[in-house]
Amino acid sequence: MPPLDIAILGCGSRGRGYAKIAASLGGRYRITAAVDPVETRTAFVADLAGPDVRVFADADSFFHAGKLADVLIIATQDQDHFGHATAALCAGYDILLEKPAAESIERCRELDGLARTLGRRVALCFVLRYTPFYRAVKDVVDAGSLGRVVTIRASEGVEPFHQAHSFVRGHWRNSETSTPMIVAKCSHDADLLCWLSGSAAKTVTSHGALDWFTGERAPDGAPARCTDGCPAAGECIYDSHRYLGDRRRWLGMVMDHAEEADDERILEFLRSSPWGRCVYRCDNDVVDHQVVAAEMENGVTATLTMTAFDCGRTLEIHGTKASLRGGTPLNEAGAPELWLRHHHDGRVEPIPLPEVDAQGYAGHGGGDFGLVDSLDRMFRGPDAIEPGLDGFAGHELAFEAELSRIEGGEARRVNRA
Ligand SMILES: NC(=O)c1ccc[n+]([C@@H]2O[C@H](COP(=O)([O-])OP(=O)(O)OC[C@H]3O[C@@H](n4cnc5c(N)ncnc54)[C@H](O)[C@@H]3O)[C@@H](O)[C@H]2O)c1
Repeated sequence: MPPLDIAILGCGSRGRGYAKIAASLGGRYRITAAVDPVETRTAFVADLAGPDVRVFADADSFFHAGKLADVLIIATQDQDHFGHATAALCAGYDILLEKPAAESIERCRELDGLARTLGRRVALCFVLRYTPFYRAVKDVVDAGSLGRVVTIRASEGVEPFHQAHSFVRGHWRNSETSTPMIVAKCSHDADLLCWLSGSAAKTVTSHGALDWFTGERAPDGAPARCTDGCPAAGECIYDSHRYLGDRRRWLGMVMDHAEEADDERILEFLRSSPWGRCVYRCDNDVVDHQVVAAEMENGVTATLTMTAFDCGRTLEIHGTKASLRGGTPLNEAGAPELWLRHHHDGRVEPIPLPEVDAQGYAGHGGGDFGLVDSLDRMFRGPDAIEPGLDGFAGHELAFEAELSRIEGGEARRVNRA
């Protein structure tokens, strides 16, 4: 089989991560083009690709160059996805699109319709589906070991510093400039509810708010930036000086050349970038806790709790024969765990999980690797996905949940197209 040709539009943190994995899978993928206005980022991808790689500083010139790959990976920021994806579909590409597919459900629907009309495949980067943990969950469900699935309970603990990094100081802090939390972060979880129940949602309700990361919670005398000298620095878990120590690797996602930067350069970055700001004095509006309750089309009931103040995901799936319980990570070693409890005799059986190296956030517990490793099968051959927007049902659930939250918990009918 010849290699699958891929082009990368948006060579930021995600785009470079996918490029690195593709390049490591010797001979199965060929990177033919890299597109990004920041020259050092395209240079990074071009170095991983062969000598024939084409480099573009903007999306327009890339799309004018004709079709340069089988699959286009779109890893630009949330608000650019719809425009880049529609241009890519019209230019003849199948797409691996970073989530969310678009900033509104109407635009997701439009994208789905366009892809179907043109007979093109759009896969979303739902990396959790490709982790050994969720793969094992799906295998147990598909094998029928739970009997008929009746109830799903899921939770996502973002972890306080991660919340501050991405959703208070960072790219996804404001729903006007990106998308609401339940879409930006929890579209993974909404997708999992649909994927594991085998159904789209029928109705959904939701509650949630921004509670902690607001001006009124600021410690007395806290300045606008941690680098201005804060009297509460000693006990503040969000002190941005942690980027010089235990949170240093997080800078790689937002600061060019962070890996080589010395302390002085990092301090300079903290004095001028959003990541040095006091978490109680930012322009954030996305929630730090939210609950969602859904009734699926097939009768399964599902709930999801998102909170900034826990770490990792937990999951319970209750069926007529057995219950599955687990989480990632759960134990002190940070490893995921999964158990099956048989209703018939009360026996509890651990489900073995393959080990993944601990790449944490960057690697999504093996999901980034699993996604890229699956790309060729996803886009060609007998197991290729259907034309259209794969994962649309989860986006519908998430967008309707946000509307319910804004309306004070009013029940929303999903899938009213
Ligand atoms: N699947 C996941 O689990 C996951 C995790 C984190 C982020 N994301 C999503 O991935 C996307 C990218 O996130 P990121 O952290 O890599 O962001 P990033 O800001 O590091 O990368 C975006 C890149 O797009 C480039 N860009 C901007 N305009 C462009 C244009 N017109 N043409 C080409 N390139 C352009 C920027 O220069 C930047 O390098 C976001 O939509 C985000 O929500 C997904």
